[in-house]
Amino acid sequence: MEITDFFAQARVLVVTGKGGVGKTTVSGVLANLAARHGLSCLVAQLAAPGAATRTPETAHLSRMFGHSRVLDYDEIVLFGEELAEAVDGADRGAPPPRRPQVRARALSPDTALVEYLHLHGMRRLSRKLASSGALDVVATAVPGMPDILVLGKVKQIERAAAAGQPGAPDVVVLDAPAAGHAVRFLQSPAGLLAAAGGGPVRAQAQEVVEMLTDPSRCQVVLVTTPEETPVSEAMETAQVLEDRAGVTLCTVVVNARLPTAELPGDLSAEALVEAVARSGGLLSDDQASALVAAAALRSERQRSQAAQVRRLAEELPLPRLELPFCFSADLGPEQLDELTSALEASVGAWAPVEI
Ligand SMILES: Nc1ncnc2c1ncn2[C@@H]1O[C@H](COP(=O)(O)OP(=O)(O)O)[C@@H](O)[C@H]1O
Ligand SMILES: [Mg+2]
Repeated sequence: MEITDFFAQARVLVVTGKGGVGKTTVSGVLANLAARHGLSCLVAQLAAPGAATRTPETAHLSRMFGHSRVLDYDEIVLFGEELAEAVDGADRGAPPPRRPQVRARALSPDTALVEYLHLHGMRRLSRKLASSGALDVVATAVPGMPDILVLGKVKQIERAAAAGQPGAPDVVVLDAPAAGHAVRFLQSPAGLLAAAGGGPVRAQAQEVVEMLTDPSRCQVVLVTTPEETPVSEAMETAQVLEDRAGVTLCTVVVNARLPTAELPGDLSAEALVEAVARSGGLLSDDQASALVAAAALRSERQRSQAAQVRRLAEELPLPRLELPFCFSADLGPEQLDELTSALEASVGAWAPVEI
């Protein structure tokens, strides 16, 4: 599949999966891939669940792009030209030229509420709430309200993107909460819709549900590692998301798969010592034993990862993309490039499932 076709499937890609499987990493890689192919992409990262104001663990995404800034409600540019230049360069009336770009911001319910109040002429109320410390309370008091506020903001960005507004991104990648929470997060609008009698909350919930259930506007990217528990959880999440939240699943990304190393299965420490000696080297028995043990462990992990990938392929009928494990303590620009190339090749080889 062409990369631009991949991103044309839906304007909003919601990235979710079990905690620690690489959601933030995959979000950054997706955004970088979009930019490589001339698109502008906004990564919106959600605040940790249950916390209205706490900033999300944002440094990881910045670091991948060689920055150190912590994400905030205001957008920052991680790759490409600054936003102002792109907008200024546009002729009035003519659509602005497309610029490859990766931007990022954090979204939290309380900041989304402030913006909502501003946009609806309630600036003074929002200031009062903020100064009294009640903002969090209001933004999170009603079950489902924080999710509606955040998803309402995402919907607003998606509408701007659909209309081709200057400065609006081509693609929005939502670095969503861990799977268990994401199910609730994506289901909340439907719940609120059923509960809310009328007024702005109902209208907002209605519009968010429309976005979530329209596959041309929003699809889910499920991330897992090739290990037993994350794979099981990914399969459960897939089912619940489709059945209960009505969202369409786009793909499952198998992250951090060990690159295949061809290792002799029947290697003995003695044979290794002899082989090294024949080529003029020297290896102690202890060193040889340690190497043999490491090779056996690596072979075993490769086998078990392959088994998990097979299980996923058999039980989850979704196109699968793969990213290799990077042997690096921290993921920086070099690893981002490597992972982006891997995703590029994986998407290139992908044939979407016939529906
Ligand atoms: N493909 C990979 N290779 C090596 N390390 C990875 C890979 N993907 C993620 N990691 C590391 O795993 C940790 C968790 O990744 P992260 O993207 O923050 O997960 P999540 O957002 O799901 O919690 C990070 O320390 C990250 O650097
Ligand atoms: Mg994360």
